[in-house]
Parts: sequence; structure tokens; C-alpha cells
Amino acid sequence: MIRVHLAGEGAEAQDRSYDILCGRGLLAEVGPAIRQAGARRAVVIADAAVQETHAAAVAKSLRSAGLETETIAVASGETSKSLESAGRIWSHLARLAVDRATHVVAVGGGVVGDLSGFVAATFARGLSVWHVPTTLVAQVDSAIGGKTGINLAEGKNLVGAFWQPRGVFADIDALATLPDREFVSGLAEIVKYGMILDAQFFTWLEANAAGLLARDPERTAFAVHRSAALKARVVGQDEREISGLRAALNYGHTFGHAYETAAGYGTLLHGEAVAIGMSRAARLAALLGRIDAEVVGRQDALLARLSLPIAAQAAGSIAPERLLEIMARDKKSLGGRLRFVLPDRIGRAELVADIDPVLVRTALIAT
Ligand SMILES: NC(=O)c1ccc[n+]([C@@H]2O[C@H](COP(=O)([O-])OP(=O)(O)OC[C@H]3O[C@@H](n4cnc5c(N)ncnc54)[C@H](O)[C@@H]3O)[C@@H](O)[C@H]2O)c1
Ligand SMILES: [Zn+2]
Repeated sequence: MIRVHLAGEGAEAQDRSYDILCGRGLLAEVGPAIRQAGARRAVVIADAAVQETHAAAVAKSLRSAGLETETIAVASGETSKSLESAGRIWSHLARLAVDRATHVVAVGGGVVGDLSGFVAATFARGLSVWHVPTTLVAQVDSAIGGKTGINLAEGKNLVGAFWQPRGVFADIDALATLPDREFVSGLAEIVKYGMILDAQFFTWLEANAAGLLARDPERTAFAVHRSAALKARVVGQDEREISGLRAALNYGHTFGHAYETAAGYGTLLHGEAVAIGMSRAARLAALLGRIDAEVVGRQDALLARLSLPIAAQAAGSIAPERLLEIMARDKKSLGGRLRFVLPDRIGRAELVADIDPVLVRTALIAT
């Protein structure tokens, strides 16, 4: 079990701290835990892809614990992270006459987690939400830390709120039904944690790459647990991305988002774009003299062994100018000036501002 200790105003922060359970066979534990937290009713918001399987198991556990339980299904895919979906769920909750003793339980990947968290944050000025992440990305990343939101036509994640869950149940067994490509995409975020926070974990990943790729449950459980613990630590120290610590989690993401946008959403999975992004960020760090070629090589080798793309061409032929333009508009850039999270060794990275676009361009086209 991992505890997310939120720093801040005494008892208030303490009250919002929560546990992340990580392991196998956890879906059956959801009901008793939520019941114990004082819920009388539960609304399960489920990705349609897991509605009949994992979400049904969670609903069964909730009912067995004596909770009146409703399930709302959400169509699979990024387009569900929309105002239309949020509106539909708000109305559904209104019809159910939901009150404070009704808890929301999100079962699915990052899409359902972000959408359900946003709905919970906003409906009746805030309902308790629990996350049951069923993708690797969601287990190691999106279910932890309280960032919720929806997309607009103008851009991803533009409307949202910080809303911490009451608890997270990361059940490795739920990943059994996940397609390989989605699983591998999640491995990119795991490599990210090793690269920016934990050299020892990075070395473990190098030694266990084949087992992870083969989806060995013990290795997967260890990697999820360690990644979740690293993210929990960062979130606990910088919940609202103020000190800059949490910003380090965006390693590979400024480049990655640009590739995602330029390739067109849906072409690259998020983790694939992040892998290419990390390969570019490492090259940029090397150009700035922060790391040497050996570090770039180790990261490339690990990503490649995990079947992740590193070559910019994997995103198709995109002009570097187009990528630079997208990055300048990124909501994480400051007034159009480019900032990147860059490593200075394996296990440590920081946000570096005011980077010369000429170097960024070189990193984009470097082999
Ligand atoms: N809030 C955060 O801090 C944060 C962090 C990272 C990513 N995100 C967001 O998360 C989203 C990406 O999350 P994702 O990669 O989980 O995508 P996703 O939720 O779209 O899930 C990926 C695919 O897997 C399917 N699926 C989910 N669980 C399954 C299972 N167990 N078996 C079979 N299929 C399953 C889904 O239907 C979907 O088709 C993006 O919207 C991104 O912005 C948020
Ligand atoms: Zn990410």
C-alpha cells in the first residue's frame, strides 16, 4: 500500500490524503473499502470496454458490501473526454438524486478517470471519487495525483480541476484484457519515472525489460508499485504544480504532445509519443552538455527493448518547424518561450527555461 500524503494546511491536507492499493485480486476489495469510508450509494462510471468484466466485478463488490449501485457506461476513446459526456453524466446524477453519501467509482483508463474525476469535482460542488484504473497508463499515472479534466476542440485538457480521489485500486489482473499496444504505451511512463527520479529503478527496468514485455505479473506488479510510489511522492510534495517538482513528471511530454498533435490524435498512443519525446529530450540535454552520449544510448536501448519508438520518423514525416510552433503554443510554455524537463543524469531531471530553438530543432532531427 502506498499513501499519498498531501502537504499543506494541517488537518485539511491530512483529510485529503489517501491510499493507493496495488496488487492482484483487488476488485473485490473496492466495496468494503468504500462502505467503510461512509458511502451508502455508489455510481460506477465505466469504460464500455470493461463494463461487462472489471466494472461488473467492482459493481458486484459494491452491492455485496450493501451499497446501492448504478453503472453509467462511457464509450471508449479520447472523444469521451468531452463536455457532452460530462453533461450527460451530470444529468444522470441529477436524475438519480445523488447526495454526499453517494460516491463515484471510475473504472477504466485515463479517459474515464479524468472525466469521472472532473464530474465528481463539479457535481453538487464535489462528490467523493475512487479510481479503479484498468490500463497501465492509468495505474502508474493518471489515477494518481488528482488532475481531472476534459478536452475542448481547441485543445486537450483545457478545462479541469484538481480533485484528489479518496483511494485508488490498481489491480494488475485487470490488465490481462488490455491490448499489447496499450500495455507497451504504459511502459513509456514507467521508463520516465526511472529516468527522472530513480536510477536504481532504471537499472531494474534494464534487467527486467524482457519479462515486462512478456507481461510477467510479478514484474508488472513491482513496476506499477514503484512507479505509483514515485508519482505519489512527487504529488505529495507539489500537489498543484507550484514548486516545479511536479513539472518534472512532464519529461518527454512537451515533445510528445507536439508529436501527438502533429500526427493527429489517435495516430500515436500517448506513451508512444512520450517515448519519442523522451528520446528527443535526452538528445537536447546532450546538446546542452547536461548528459553524455552514454545516457542517451541507455535510454534508447531500454525504450527499444520495450518495443517503444524512439525515432522521430515513427510519428510520420513532420516538419520540425511545425513541431516547434506547436511547442511554443503548449500551455506549459511561458509566453511562447520554450521550457523542457531535461535530465542531468539517470534518476534526476529538472525544468530548464529559455532554450535556444535552434538546439531544439537539432534535437528534433537528430538520429
Ligand atoms: N490526470 C492525469 O494526471 C493524467 C496523466 C496521464 C494521462 N492522462 C490522460 O489519460 C488519457 C489516456 O489514458 P489511457 O492510456 O488509459 O487511455 P484510455 O482510457 O483511452 O484507455 C485506452 C484503451 O484501452 C481500453 N481499455 C481500458 N482498460 C482496458 C482493459 N482492462 N482491457 C481492455 N481494454 C481496456 C479503453 O477502452 C481504450 O480503448 C488521456 O486522456 C490523458 O490525457 C491523465
Ligand atoms: Zn503521460
